[in-house]
Amino acid sequence: MISFKGAHFPKDVILYAVFFYVRYGVSYCDLEEIMEERGIKVDHATLNRWVVDYFPLIAEKSKKRKCTVATSWRIDETYVKVKGQWVYLYRAVDKFGDTVDFMLSEHRDEMAATTFFNKQSMAMVFLTKSSWIKAVLIMRALRICDRTISRLSALPSLLMIPMANNSNRRETSSEIDLPGANSLNYLKRMKRVIERTVYCGLYGVILVRGKKDRIHDADGNEYIDCLSGAGVNVLGYGIGLEKIYAEQARDMQHSCFPYSPNIPAITLAERLIEITPGLHNKRVIFGLTGSDGCDCAIEAMRKFTHRHGLISFNYSYHGTTGLSEPASGFGIGKEVYEEEAALFLKHDYPTSKNECDIVLKRIENNLSTGGIGGVLIEPIQGDGGIIIPPAPGFFARLSELLKKYDALLMVDEVQTGMGRTGNWWAVEYEKVDFDILITAKGLSGGYAPISAVIGREEIMDSLDPVEQLFTYAGHPPSCAVALAVIQHIEKEGLMNRAHEVGARLMMQLKEIQKKYSNIIKDVRGRGLMIGMEIDISKDKNTCKLYATRSAQKGVYFGYFGRDRNVICIEPPLIISEDSLLQVVNVAEEVAYEMEKGRIPLHTQDIVSKYAMGLVAN
Ligand SMILES: Cc1ncc(COP(=O)(O)O)c(C=O)c1O
Repeated sequence: MISFKGAHFPKDVILYAVFFYVRYGVSYCDLEEIMEERGIKVDHATLNRWVVDYFPLIAEKSKKRKCTVATSWRIDETYVKVKGQWVYLYRAVDKFGDTVDFMLSEHRDEMAATTFFNKQSMAMVFLTKSSWIKAVLIMRALRICDRTISRLSALPSLLMIPMANNSNRRETSSEIDLPGANSLNYLKRMKRVIERTVYCGLYGVILVRGKKDRIHDADGNEYIDCLSGAGVNVLGYGIGLEKIYAEQARDMQHSCFPYSPNIPAITLAERLIEITPGLHNKRVIFGLTGSDGCDCAIEAMRKFTHRHGLISFNYSYHGTTGLSEPASGFGIGKEVYEEEAALFLKHDYPTSKNECDIVLKRIENNLSTGGIGGVLIEPIQGDGGIIIPPAPGFFARLSELLKKYDALLMVDEVQTGMGRTGNWWAVEYEKVDFDILITAKGLSGGYAPISAVIGREEIMDSLDPVEQLFTYAGHPPSCAVALAVIQHIEKEGLMNRAHEVGARLMMQLKEIQKKYSNIIKDVRGRGLMIGMEIDISKDKNTCKLYATRSAQKGVYFGYFGRDRNVICIEPPLIISEDSLLQVVNVAEEVAYEMEKGRIPLHTQDIVSKYAMGLVAN
């Protein structure tokens, strides 16, 4: 219980109130409904009034003083104790990018909201004594809330608060005008010189910098990064690992490993072997991209098994080099690889027990012909739309089958690896033996292009000298920075974090899905690799529209899937609590706007002009 001036409130209730208030900013939300849903008995009317009265009052007063209190907040701090009498309640940034500080004086009977416009003018809003009492209660609760948030696992259900009746809810007024003039200008230049095949842009914006979990475009707009440069930037931006790269580059930027090996590459291979399951002897081959890693695995499979046939999956993505492209299931490069098609067999990635049975039967039929050397598979199909193999046991049964026919299991962890799903590798959830693992993307946290193939010694040994050589493979600064990424993930406990935060985010998104099931068909994922499948049956652009509207509200999602129908959420593993709240908030706001038919026409215009995405056949 928390007591304040004779009133007693259960702690949970205050936390609910505050969390709700933090999450929705200016809000008319109906707390009563939440309380009812959560089975909490309390003086609902009082609680309701706190949140319902509090912000509109500020907004109202500030309007009179000709200043704006934005309706969409980017909360930087929830609570900061300042020496002396002032206490920050929180700091927010309004739609014009101005800082708004809500402060509280315990000594004067007033609450002040101070808005700095471009740091020049200042407007003060004084509230009544009763508002002050509410604010004190909220502040006190925030203090608890802060502690709770830092121990996230303590109160997961608290953080799953469903959105209340939003019949009288305000829509966010903060909106990014994208793509801005600068992005458009660069886009124009780009199109004059860079071949169209390398571009499948999502929003037409050009990015210039990042900080922690935020990215900024060429027009100064900030977004919460939920794409991480296609699952690469696992540690976010600006954490200082560039120093490691620079130090190594200062000592020796390149040794050409095949002729003159270097220490960082040897050390990195040792670490990769340590963090990859299996006590058998392993060998590592370095490359530059996920595509060459997959190529390498297929080549090793062919040499070891003396069979050239490969099974992979429809809508898998393994790359665009000689063997990885025909292995991919998006139909990319179909004409170029027409003649090889008979060697690259595809099946549907199963999503149910029934589909597992069917697919495994078909795979066995293929294997029994004797021409198949192995299966290349993503433990979670990423670009195919975050598809998770059904539990229990698709992988276990597949592995058994492959063993029976002396064929190899090769797992493509290019997108799923490096802690994203809560383990080093997503295949660890499947508890199977595999023969080869391919990693890239997050391996260097985005600091350097690098891939690695880790496989059983006897398989990798079947490659003859100089069969997998790249001048830049085993590049010392890239290997040094990859080592630092591994160390950082371990030291900061980021796998656990991905697991916990991801589970909570998924629960919150599932709550939204329940409310807007006509728009969001499914929410699925593992750790911080989450997909929201959007219903595109009425309009094939619905998912792009959802993503673009979210980007306008400052959240940069990816959209993938066989029909570009899945919102992909793969933020840096360090994504902050505030950002997570905003992601959920925006995800809900956009669903709400869609349901009410309130997506602005100009958003549709942006989609038709700039939204592409990985093109499926
Ligand atoms: C699962 C998977 N494998 C391989 C690749 C190819 O990697 P890269 O683009 O680095 O060549 C990707 C890229 O998206 C991927 O997601």
